[in-house]
Amino acid sequence: MSIFKGKNILLGVTGSIAAYKACEIVRLLTKAGARVQVIMTHSGTKMVGPATFAALTGRDVLTELFPKEPKAGLEHIHLAETLDVIIVAPATANIIAKTAHGIADDLLSTTLLACDVPKLFAPAMNFRMWRNEATQSNLAIIRQRGATIVDPEHGQLASLAVGEGRMAEPKTIVNALRKLLGGEQDYEGQRVLITAGPTREPIDPVRFLSNRSSGKMGYALAAAALERGARVTLISGPTALEPPAGCDFIAVETAEEMEKQVRAKAPDQELIIMAAAVADFRIARPETRKIKRGGSTPVLKLEPNPDILKGLRPLTDAYLVGFALEVEKGRENALKKLREKQLDAIFLNYADRADSGFDKETNEGILFFKDSEEEVPFTLQSKKEIAHGILTAIREDLKRET
Ligand code: CTP
Repeated sequence: MSIFKGKNILLGVTGSIAAYKACEIVRLLTKAGARVQVIMTHSGTKMVGPATFAALTGRDVLTELFPKEPKAGLEHIHLAETLDVIIVAPATANIIAKTAHGIADDLLSTTLLACDVPKLFAPAMNFRMWRNEATQSNLAIIRQRGATIVDPEHGQLASLAVGEGRMAEPKTIVNALRKLLGGEQDYEGQRVLITAGPTREPIDPVRFLSNRSSGKMGYALAAAALERGARVTLISGPTALEPPAGCDFIAVETAEEMEKQVRAKAPDQELIIMAAAVADFRIARPETRKIKRGGSTPVLKLEPNPDILKGLRPLTDAYLVGFALEVEKGRENALKKLREKQLDAIFLNYADRADSGFDKETNEGILFFKDSEEEVPFTLQSKKEIAHGILTAIREDLKRET
């Protein structure tokens, strides 16, 4: 389950060209299960129409401290009671100055003053305004009071000038928010590559060979790593799941495509977890046209797919983790794969147990390590819990190594 699920998030949109990027932030957060309420300043509404945010959030956008048709009680007082976090993105020099000095002269600045919840600001402004001492000392004030600032990036600004002041990318802002809401950041800044889901091997343009993998274990690992501060790349075969907000997502179909993407990314990673259920075989010569009924019954000739994981060791120094889905002689087979694929760890799970393995919400298994007799057993629990447990166990193993 995403850390954003059920969270009440207030997004303040102020008057910067970067307001359009706030739409993507809303999209990522609502898809991840958050309830997002948007407040726009008057200048914010000049950049993007409130109707856009209303459509994206399914809620009225609030713009007025004293609406023409007042509701019972002030909106910001209601909001203050239910909120988990406030983000202001884009945040102009003006809203930063008002927050620093406790000025409350519109709905957003009043709400910021009235709500005692964590706050995150993503500044966006002209590079001279950003560099101005007034802005920098205002930022220092709000930072010192506990606000998180997602620094702007260097690049071309709306004025076409090049400098610092361009709002950080929505993905970066969402990941900073995740960190703010999340727990321990023991994977902070680490590059983690995870594969997930099945692969599809074409028979003809409309048919394929595949397996029952749902992708749930791999996606849970990606979400858990993101929550712990990692920079996650998720390479996935076709699934019905929404990629966790904030990861770099690469969709693939065949084992060959997955191999190409994994090999391209592998050299830069610190941890690689191959949770994908890669099809071992593909059709030797897929038909380019749909196979029609009527002729002779086709015979499908298979050929082996590359073993993606086995080929990785020479390419990368990353800590390599495989999955072994076994029916019998689980321990023996898993340890053999650990050795033969030159892995650092392998998670043994079972294909023939109720409530675990493919396409289930829960899982159970044992994690084995290359250089340690220690093994970590996992009783039946949610894939999210297993994912966090695996990441914790990897951390412990790395500590043993050093
Ligand atoms: N794997 C891979 N490329 C393949 C097959 C598997 O990278 N072509 C990875 C999986 O992602 C998983 C591990 O290797 O991490 C599983 O290995 P293995 O058990 O050898 O794959 P199986 O197909 O399950 O092997 P077998 O059916 O022989 O038990």
